[in-house]
Amino acid sequence: MARKDDLIVGLDIGTTKICAIVGERTENGVDIIGTGTHISKGLRKGVVIDIDATVQSIKMAVEEAEMMADCEISSVYAGIAGGHIRGFNSHGVVALKDREVRQSDIRRVIDAAKAVAIPMDREVIHVIPQEFVIDEQDGIREPLGMSGVRLESKIHIVTAAVTSAQNIVKSCNKAGLNVIDIVLEPLASAQAVLASDERDLGVCMIYIGGGTTDIAVFADGSINNTSVLGLGGYHLTNDIAVGLRTPFDEAERIKKQFGVASARYLASDDVLTVPSVGGRRPREVSRKILCEIIEPRAEEILSLARQEIVRSGLDDKIPSGLVLTGGASALAGLSELAEEIFEAPVRIGTPTNVGGLLDVVRSPMYATGVGLVGYGYSQESGRFKGFRIRDESIFGRVKQRMRDWFYTEFA
Ligand SMILES: Nc1ncnc2c1ncn2[C@@H]1O[C@H](COP(=O)(O)OP(=O)(O)O)[C@@H](O)[C@H]1O
Ligand SMILES: [Mg+2]
Repeated sequence: MARKDDLIVGLDIGTTKICAIVGERTENGVDIIGTGTHISKGLRKGVVIDIDATVQSIKMAVEEAEMMADCEISSVYAGIAGGHIRGFNSHGVVALKDREVRQSDIRRVIDAAKAVAIPMDREVIHVIPQEFVIDEQDGIREPLGMSGVRLESKIHIVTAAVTSAQNIVKSCNKAGLNVIDIVLEPLASAQAVLASDERDLGVCMIYIGGGTTDIAVFADGSINNTSVLGLGGYHLTNDIAVGLRTPFDEAERIKKQFGVASARYLASDDVLTVPSVGGRRPREVSRKILCEIIEPRAEEILSLARQEIVRSGLDDKIPSGLVLTGGASALAGLSELAEEIFEAPVRIGTPTNVGGLLDVVRSPMYATGVGLVGYGYSQESGRFKGFRIRDESIFGRVKQRMRDWFYTEFA
């Protein structure tokens, strides 16, 4: 049985599937030793709407992963997504008393940047330093010990709706799991599928899942934009079900088997047999019609992602282009359509950077789960500097608040 201390488990709570990925620490990094996947019934657009259904799916996925890895899972890194996620950049300035940067100055300058009004119903889930500026010198990653009189920090702050974050923790706890940390899904996926040279040059990762599309832009060597759109592969399937008047499950099968992102990419036209609803007889439909149903929605998803990037002023800062990942990125022709819309090079991203059962998880749909393991590993080993300084975790603070309340009430 794998030793408990060596395990790092990522729990991707998606709209389509819940997936537990078990990593084991080794001398050279982390090996994937087990996975468990179960269909997800309790989420809409990335947000938990039915705790009991979510708990059931989590239990099933975790049990399967435990069997495969021959281990017992007690703690996880859980992902969070949904349209309620907001990412924005902020900066802070402090004077250097000793004319040299000390650890306390770094803490102060990050605190200064964090001092923005966050509404009561939102919670900060990540504080990611992008760079430091000392006097006029910018682009500094490691300011400790450097000389100067003025230290400036630039950071990326990610906030989430308090209730959505709490429902994720609650679902995990009810399934008997302790949550070590909540991690923004786009950050986790980026960790799994992006190469470090791409990240340094500037790249945009778009994870198209079932109910959400997650975006993470790395520019100027650090994370610059994170956002989540409430659209995904589910909407493609739903359009096909409505357009072809066929049951949802059939629409899903037809999409995967015959769907192409644009009718223009079809070399020849075939005829498909499409089952009808309500006991009517199946009908013959041209594949071109299917693709004409898919195209506007696929275009909508990609165009909204593009708008988000243009809005944040980063469209000319991503020379490495786009990396598409997530289950729905497997749609034939999607990368070609993205190339047309973004006028940039596009590749499909599958998880790398891990060992072990890489073949089992080498699919875009595992990007988040594998990324969560990678995130956990880098946090615990302190090796990955990407999102190093992290705000205290939500539950830590919730606990602290309860403690404060307890002391003021009963002291
Ligand atoms: N071969 C495929 N072609 C097109 N779409 C696919 C294919 N495989 C999976 N999908 C779609 O991917 C979506 C699920 O994405 P995934 O990343 O696994 O899930 P989640 O929503 O849980 O993040 C579904 O909408 C599914 O229809
Ligand atoms: Mg997902």
